[in-house]
Amino acid sequence: MAKLIDGKAVSQKVKEEVRAEIEREGLKVGLAVVIVGNDQASRVYVNNKKKACEVCGIRSFEYALPEETTEKELLDLVDTLNNDPEVNGILVQLPLPKHLDSEKVIARISPEKDVDAFHAENVGKIMIGNYAFLPCTPAGVMELIHSTGTDVSGKECVVIGRSNIVGKPMAMLLLHENATVTICHSRTKDLAAVCRRADILVSAVGKADFVTADMVKEGAVVIDVGMNRNAENKLCGDVKFDEVEPKVSYITPVPGGVGPMTIAMLMKNTLMAKRIQSR
Ligand code: GUN
Repeated sequence: MAKLIDGKAVSQKVKEEVRAEIEREGLKVGLAVVIVGNDQASRVYVNNKKKACEVCGIRSFEYALPEETTEKELLDLVDTLNNDPEVNGILVQLPLPKHLDSEKVIARISPEKDVDAFHAENVGKIMIGNYAFLPCTPAGVMELIHSTGTDVSGKECVVIGRSNIVGKPMAMLLLHENATVTICHSRTKDLAAVCRRADILVSAVGKADFVTADMVKEGAVVIDVGMNRNAENKLCGDVKFDEVEPKVSYITPVPGGVGPMTIAMLMKNTLMAKRIQSR
């Protein structure tokens, strides 16, 4: 039987460390969170980010803009936040409504305030391995893997999904710790066979019940980044938990696995942004 990786507990520890540092040094740290439109999932994420700010002693500034916001209005807001010394981090919640070009908006965020690490400059730094901001979800996954005591070096790691937010940076962080990394995607041939090679399997697909027992190696560490709704509208990950769990050594639950870690790492990045800007 697998051991559950408790993302809630690990994330609380990270947030407590952030709070303690802020308190000890008497820092004034601020995060601006921008949300455009009425996406329900985005609203939940943004509320959770604001709650985490409170826990950490970080001031949060919410900008909830209507669906019909123009690109110019959004870019003007980003410019204002870039120039506001009380704002150390800027987060524009994705996805944006279709008429807004998220690449253009992200490119406008000052790299020093880009706490998501989505800006091309920060993405490039992640590639090189010389980074200030860690991409939040992949960094959270690394913390969860470390919490199991697993040494990543030399391990076969398989990442399912090649998004800019999760899959690609995830592969980089694993590579930086000397894993042998394979990235799988919709065109991968015999996905199950590739996944079965994994000592550490990270799934970021976005499809319920995608990872089945025949796709995992006995004793693997399985990290489920998926955040989906099943037929009963219940929150679930990518992994068919009931059949995979008995076969592996460690597994993250959904909810309570990767989700809380993403937010904790965002808090860590916001504190880092403050430090960079105080240099
Ligand atoms: N939408 C889903 N995940 C994220 C994230 O980590 N950051 C932002 N800005 N938007 C998201």
